[in-house]
Amino acid sequence: YRLEQLKKEINYHNHRYYVLDNPVTGDGEYDQLMRELKGLEEQYPELVTMDSPTQRVGSSPVAGFAQVEHPVPMLSLANAFSFEELQAWHRRVKNLLDGAEFRMMCELKIDGLAVSLSYENGIMVQGSTRGDGFRGEDVTQNLRTVKTIPLALMGDYPMSLEVRGEVYMPLESFKKLNEERQARGEPLFVNPRNSGAGSIRQLDPRATASRNLDIFIYGVGHTGNGTLADNHSDALQRVGEMGLKVSPHNVLCDSMEEVEDLYRSWLERRHQLPYQIDGMVVKVDPYQYQDQLGYVGREPRWAIAYKFPAAQAVTQLLDIGVNVGRTGSLNPYAVLEPVSVGGAMVKLATLHNEEDIHRKDLRVGDWVVVERAGEVIPQVVAPVEDRRTGEEQIFRMPETCPVCGTQVVKTESEAMHRCPNIACPAQFFELLKHFVSKGAMDIDGLGEQWCRIVIDAGLVKDAADLYFLTKDQLLGLDRMGDKLATKIIDNIQASKHRSLARVFFALGILHIGSEMAELLAQTHRSIEQLSRASTEDLTNIAGIGPKIASSVVAYFSVDLNLEVIAKLREAGVELERAETKGGLGFGSQEEQEEQPLSGLSFVLTGTLNSMSRSAAEAQIKGYGGSTSSNVTRKTDYLVAGAEPGSKLAAANRLGTQVLGEEEFLSLLAENEGGAKS
Ligand code: IVH
Repeated sequence: YRLEQLKKEINYHNHRYYVLDNPVTGDGEYDQLMRELKGLEEQYPELVTMDSPTQRVGSSPVAGFAQVEHPVPMLSLANAFSFEELQAWHRRVKNLLDGAEFRMMCELKIDGLAVSLSYENGIMVQGSTRGDGFRGEDVTQNLRTVKTIPLALMGDYPMSLEVRGEVYMPLESFKKLNEERQARGEPLFVNPRNSGAGSIRQLDPRATASRNLDIFIYGVGHTGNGTLADNHSDALQRVGEMGLKVSPHNVLCDSMEEVEDLYRSWLERRHQLPYQIDGMVVKVDPYQYQDQLGYVGREPRWAIAYKFPAAQAVTQLLDIGVNVGRTGSLNPYAVLEPVSVGGAMVKLATLHNEEDIHRKDLRVGDWVVVERAGEVIPQVVAPVEDRRTGEEQIFRMPETCPVCGTQVVKTESEAMHRCPNIACPAQFFELLKHFVSKGAMDIDGLGEQWCRIVIDAGLVKDAADLYFLTKDQLLGLDRMGDKLATKIIDNIQASKHRSLARVFFALGILHIGSEMAELLAQTHRSIEQLSRASTEDLTNIAGIGPKIASSVVAYFSVDLNLEVIAKLREAGVELERAETKGGLGFGSQEEQEEQPLSGLSFVLTGTLNSMSRSAAEAQIKGYGGSTSSNVTRKTDYLVAGAEPGSKLAAANRLGTQVLGEEEFLSLLAENEGGAKS
């Protein structure tokens, strides 16, 4: 009984969160419910059902996809490419209906992949691709991973229901996916439609789950006996009430003028949408008329796709330029003879990396096909080889960084060329963000945006410049208020007394994370001492290998880095360890007696998202707490990460206080604040 209640409650929250984008609960409470459900299901595995929210992502890859017959064929649509063509369609329809007036449902034409979802008794039992319209592929396991597809329907639903919709990859996810693929040197997806389609056809549902797909339901297929409503628009309303995701942009229109106005406004605004559309679908709303109109071949007469103008054009590739990205990556881009693509002028297009350019065989001087996919940066698709004159130039990556002139490196494992100079102005933004971040110098108030702004304003050229900022300089910046300026300056001042470990971490030395910074601070009294360490000195320390050692030595061999350190010293930033404290410690160095977690004992279980277990232990110890490996009556807190082990049961038995990751982090944060003041 409790199990059913939990499933219902979680499904309700899923719907609020994913479909309506209007959650009524915090993550913590939601996780709690999920944890309880998982616990119960572990205890009673025979009660685990298909529609349980714990069963979204199956874990075993499939060998291939079975064929599925569609009970009602999945059709395609006729296209109209102009208002005239659309009007011709409308006249024809009206004639066939003996001059009757009818309303039209106008929907966005999502550029994704058509799928069919079947529900029996409200439970999702099958999902399939369109295939040839009559038979598709069974991709149930993959569709189940799409969070906006309910595994169980809500409210009033028919015993048997099949709906159709478009699965798509939001532009944001598409961008991220390609960035990751680029970083790994894998081939990139050309557009969100291809990557969405590829994702749904993954053999391993876990791969699909990681792709962040979404869906809009645009039609009802088969409903057992009886219909949901008399009109298409009402039927969509009904399926929306069952928890399925229907586009909020569907509009009923009475006249062709309204349809045209809507089309024009989307043509303008379509790039503001977080997904790609390639037109509008216009549908005769009353089912009675739809039935009367019927089909020609595979296309219904009652609907038409009013397409946006093709977003491709041919132009000349004038040059290939190279940008340096925030992580030092050298990013080639196309300089094009300006051309209008789908209503926008395009002068530049991304080219990803050198391999990509050679794979497509793009040469400077080529005539090329340019495509604009949604609001994403225009792409160069292919050269028009017939138009080559023989004058075209093959592109080579520059050997030195175009920003700072340092020799560029390219490792075998990466498609990317990189500038290895961490002081390269192109990379400084990343470094500054890291320097001020919570785990480093913790300069609250100076977020990512302000980092960008102080750099662009020329106020900060290296991290040490922060300590010479004045309030007046900050107040001179657009939208900077007195309160924030004061806060930033105060926090910059406070950050002068961070522990040596934090300083080591904040410098952004390659491969030095917070744990390694701790170790370096335990084994070195000062930055001065570390700067004189040789590779051999360093590798003699347990836990430090050659990679770390040479990175540290390399860091201190760059003059620019030494200058920054000198400036930090001059500004009064503490660069030595407070002796009495033995070097460890994330708290600031003043609070030697009264440590916030003194006398408290902690046990850790499960995986923490934000830090490794040893980092968590270091933090606890840094605040004066102790850690042990078993929960006993003496344990004050159990910190439980994801998938906690048997320790959680022990803690529950003993009544030990259990902290989730967030609670643990806020405990640390609280004490950090308290210790400083
Ligand atoms: S209705 C019989 N509505 O466009 C009606 N289709 O070119 C069939 N599509 O295969 C489709 N958004 O994948 C419809 N709001 C929408 C749509 C839509 C995208 C796709 C669908 C279909 C293709 C036809």
